[in-house]
Amino acid sequence: KSRRARRPHAVIIGMMGAGKTRVGKEVAHMIHVPFADADLEIEREVGMKIPQYFERYGEPAFRRVEADLIADFLEDFEGVFSLGGGAPMTPSTQDALADYIARGGRVVYLDADPAEAMERANRGGGRPMLNGDANARWKKLFKERDPVFRRVANVHVHTRGLTPQGAAKKVIDMVA
Ligand code: S3P
Repeated sequence: KSRRARRPHAVIIGMMGAGKTRVGKEVAHMIHVPFADADLEIEREVGMKIPQYFERYGEPAFRRVEADLIADFLEDFEGVFSLGGGAPMTPSTQDALADYIARGGRVVYLDADPAEAMERANRGGGRPMLNGDANARWKKLFKERDPVFRRVANVHVHTRGLTPQGAAKKVIDMVA
């Protein structure tokens, strides 16, 4: 089997609340390929919810589990794969994404309007990285992460004002 035939169609990255899961699912549905979400896969693997895992084992342990799981999926999974917001900050994941792009993969930075993303991230709950002043924390993380997202992605999609379906169509147009 060639490596090209075994690659996922797209990896979705972006901030908490950008709509990575929602839009990724929609893209997969529209192009008839499987969908996977890294956070859900991690929860399945560790047998607990992410906030609970953070509380018990801390962020560094979470990042190790996350990076290992993403590395495995980038090898084997064919479809649309949404990552957790902080995943692209891990150096080994940056290397894995570069490798994926070198094999023809698309890494899509879903760049949402900050106000919309913050509102969704707050509404969703269950996000330990936003404990405390959620908006202030989101803004600080955005400042750190936006340059990294731009660097590791090979497709940049602005979604301001779009519905999940509209954003999904735009992603599909841009990866085609
Ligand atoms: C995190 C984002 C979350 C989840 C974890 C850490 C982050 O995923 O992986 O709570 O560091 O931004 P979402 O981006 O899907 O909220």
